Amino acid sequence: MAIEPGLRIVDHDADGIDTAFRKDVLAGLSQRQKAVPARWFYDETGSELFEAITELPEYYPTRAETEILERHGADFAAAIGAGRAVIEFGSGSSTKTPLLLRAIRPAAYVPIDISGDFLRQSAAALAADFPDLPVFPVEADFTKPVDLPAQVADLPKVGFFPGSTIGNLVPPSAVDLLRSMRRTLGEGTMLLIGMDRLKDEATLLAAYDDPAGVTAAFNLNLIDRINRELDGDMAREAFVHEARWNDALGRIEMHLKAIRDVRFAVAGRSFAMCAGETIHTENSHKYDLRSAAMLLLAAGWTPRAWHTDSANRFYVALAEATEPRSAP
Ligand code: AVJ
Repeated sequence: MAIEPGLRIVDHDADGIDTAFRKDVLAGLSQRQKAVPARWFYDETGSELFEAITELPEYYPTRAETEILERHGADFAAAIGAGRAVIEFGSGSSTKTPLLLRAIRPAAYVPIDISGDFLRQSAAALAADFPDLPVFPVEADFTKPVDLPAQVADLPKVGFFPGSTIGNLVPPSAVDLLRSMRRTLGEGTMLLIGMDRLKDEATLLAAYDDPAGVTAAFNLNLIDRINRELDGDMAREAFVHEARWNDALGRIEMHLKAIRDVRFAVAGRSFAMCAGETIHTENSHKYDLRSAAMLLLAAGWTPRAWHTDSANRFYVALAEATEPRSAP
């Protein structure tokens, strides 16, 4: 892999991560239902804990998606074709990406991530396996349209958004993000996206409330991060991890539940919670075929193929940027 010099960082979050974190936490803690966006789980410890979650026997999504990428490489190659630029949204840990790169033989790889450190790490991890693949990492917030490097301007593109990260977003935000990806990628592009499937409640709850307590530690780590980075004094032992299935909205929710009345300060502001009150920390939406298709269609992506794993737990959808019309 050739990481092009001078192209490592082509965009930067003007606001800075710290300011954005403080804004989100203070606004979220001021709501009646307290809530902090799930993206703030992923500091260094949080990212390590998430990696540990993916290895839990109860947490099936990573294994299921990996199985799909391993088994359907030939299908992806046929449908996507060689010579595209792969644009990955959130350059995740690099176990899934090589499976796709090996299958479809792209002309370039553009990982987009908000964390420059993470970008450099994952780019380096790919280096050994793909010596001839030009890589153009972009440090940017991909929830907004991103300017891609000039080197890939004329290449046909395929977006890659694995992990069912889309499931973290409520439908209007998910549609905004999918539309924004369509803008980033341009007309005539394709998108390969992982989406977790609706399934029985017991399996879902176990995946988000493992007996080893790794998911609990992942959730509670948010308190440590707030205390450390935002000068907080939240008592960690006053909170417990709670995973709930919200059937009406088709999502697993994670909350931090106060087990006693608790007062605390964050960034100079005071907050109080009653015993039983929660901070909503994550949504993880689960989709059936039609709700998944509807979400993609609402954002201007037409699903062309749905791939699932042998236990029917997860979808990898291949969609095409088209504007379907109901009128003939
Ligand atoms: C990384 C967003 C896909 O929702 O399943 C895992 C994060 N949260 N366990 C998910 C997560 C709790 C995960 N995603």
